[in-house]
Amino acid sequence: MKGREKICAKLSSAFLRKWWIVVAISVLFIILGVIVAIFFMTWVKLVIHHQIVLKEGSQAFGWWKKPPVTPRISIYVYNVTNADDFLSNGSKPIVDEVGPYVYTESWERKNLQFNDNGTVTYNLQKLYFFNEELSAGLEDDVVVVPNIPMLSATSQSKHAARFLRLAMASIMDILKIKPFVEVSVGQLVWGYEDPLLKLAKDVVPKEQKLPYEEFGLMYNKNRTSPDNVTVFTGAGDITKFGLIDTYNGQTHYSHWLTEECNSLSASDGSIFPPNITPNTTLYIFDKDLCRRLPLKFQKEIERKDGVVAYRFSPPLNVFANPNENPDNMCFCPYGPPCTPSGFFNVSLCQFDSPVLLSFPHFYLADDTYRTAFDGISPPDPEKHRFYLDIQPMMGTALSARARVQINLAVSQVIDIKQVATFPDIVFPILWFEEAVDGLPEEITNLMRLANDVPPVAHASITGILFAIGIILLVIAVWRLVRGANRLSSLQLATGHIGQPQQSKDVQMNNVNRH
Ligand SMILES: *[C@@H]1O[C@H](CO)[C@@H](O)[C@H](O)[C@H]1NC(C)=O
Ligand SMILES: *[C@@H]1O[C@H](CO)[C@@H](O)[C@H](O)[C@H]1NC(C)=O
Ligand SMILES: *[C@@H]1O[C@H](CO)[C@@H](O)[C@H](O)[C@H]1NC(C)=O
Ligand SMILES: *[C@@H]1O[C@H](CO)[C@@H](O)[C@H](O)[C@H]1NC(C)=O
Ligand SMILES: *[C@@H]1O[C@H](CO)[C@@H](O)[C@H](O)[C@H]1NC(C)=O
Ligand SMILES: *[C@@H]1O[C@H](CO)[C@@H](O)[C@H](O)[C@H]1NC(C)=O
Ligand SMILES: *[C@@H]1O[C@H](CO)[C@@H](O)[C@H](O)[C@H]1NC(C)=O
Repeated sequence: MKGREKICAKLSSAFLRKWWIVVAISVLFIILGVIVAIFFMTWVKLVIHHQIVLKEGSQAFGWWKKPPVTPRISIYVYNVTNADDFLSNGSKPIVDEVGPYVYTESWERKNLQFNDNGTVTYNLQKLYFFNEELSAGLEDDVVVVPNIPMLSATSQSKHAARFLRLAMASIMDILKIKPFVEVSVGQLVWGYEDPLLKLAKDVVPKEQKLPYEEFGLMYNKNRTSPDNVTVFTGAGDITKFGLIDTYNGQTHYSHWLTEECNSLSASDGSIFPPNITPNTTLYIFDKDLCRRLPLKFQKEIERKDGVVAYRFSPPLNVFANPNENPDNMCFCPYGPPCTPSGFFNVSLCQFDSPVLLSFPHFYLADDTYRTAFDGISPPDPEKHRFYLDIQPMMGTALSARARVQINLAVSQVIDIKQVATFPDIVFPILWFEEAVDGLPEEITNLMRLANDVPPVAHASITGILFAIGIILLVIAVWRLVRGANRLSSLQLATGHIGQPQQSKDVQMNNVNRH
């Protein structure tokens, strides 16, 4: 009797043990599923980060060194059509927006030098080629625009001694300098000889000399920039990937009032630290902007090529007066009063010229600035907003529209007779749109892959692991419960009737049933 019981227990415990192993395996699968569920995206990110780091020979590096895109800059000039009437009769100025004058660009990072501390130093080459087909006119088109060197000089002399202003007036008389100039679009952009700058070059002491005798809004830009830019390659610390470490050896400007506002820690607009979320603030830096520009998440978009991107734009209060946006107090070193909302005063980066940047058509500025002129249509965010579309996981810019308007803040100076009738006014000169588009399919395919595959793979791998684990577990538990029931009934049976044969029958039945 006892021996039979033992055999019986042994048999059933072997049977149970088998299913306990299955339980263990299924739990293992479930744990694996949990691990994959939690860490899969981290692994994918690690792989991506490894891929994007700038290092000699990698594909990402090649794309960064010589971007496989053809950026375009479209220039719209505000042609003044009633200059004489405006000056002699005080009429409202009438401007005619002419353009676009389109240049295609070719970019390359030159003189690359990898440093030991995970950075690379380069000089950016930008070459511009006039594109007649995309343009609405020729580079030779003549436009009438405010004389920027002259009006800068007169506006700056506002607080100088009176005799200086009078001296200026007679010099301008001799040189026949007028408040408006007739120049071609090509000259306005790329430079023309300016008598005042030429004079300044000859008379002003060496240290205070302006660097040029020609004046042009993009003078000397069609070349390899002499500025030494050092950016982080992402090796060691991916959170700084693509950010500027130093610009001509400096990490900060000294123009503004706080370290935050002086900081140059920003991207040049091409690559950004990866893992961008809608909460991320991106920063881009351009020397002509005189500061870094913050960009905030606006919306998610699906591009024509199927790549999902985040659209980032400057916040609406980016150039707001400190009364509306106290954070901008740091950009008002000599105020109050500070620059009105919608404008950014770059005079400290422009040899003290009273240049104010804004968005095209005075977007985000008070409407009175626009309606002080005839001929400027109301701003349209679609056409005039600055934006950047970015692949969030990799931090790669997919397309961009950098839209900026250049204005001259003219101050009336009665003592200088040539400009005595030129009132205090913010005069728009031109606006431009620098557009980057059309990454090669090779890259967009990769991005689609990076965006679409990981979530699917994640879901399917965890799904399969969980499914296997759960199915095994259910079967095992079910078997164990059955087995346990049978064991107890068996023990009952062996205890009371003592018919071991029955257990075999039960087992046979069980096997048959399945
Ligand atoms: C700009 O305005 C001037 C003066 O009205 C005119 O002669 C010239 O043709 C205009 N330029 C363009 C490109 O329309
Ligand atoms: C100034 O106004 C007068 C009177 O309306 C007009 O005759 C004259 O042509 C205007 N001057 C200019 C330069 O347009
Ligand atoms: C890295 O090295 C470069 C070149 O030597 C230097 O200009 C830069 O300041 C260094 N950056 C850091 C963060 O040490
Ligand atoms: C810029 O430079 C390139 C080569 O140096 C030249 O071919 C091109 O015409 C220049 N573009 C302009 C707008 O001057
Ligand atoms: C850039 O670096 C080179 C070589 O180190 C130096 O000669 C040049 O002056 C630097 N340029 C600027 C604008 O600092
Ligand atoms: C983003 O910001 C929102 C609101 O401030 C917050 O609720 C959310 O947790 C943040 N998300 C992340 C990923 O930081
Ligand atoms: C721009 O800043 C300069 C000093 O950098 C200041 O003199 C000038 O008044 C400012 N212009 C405006 C319109 O705020």
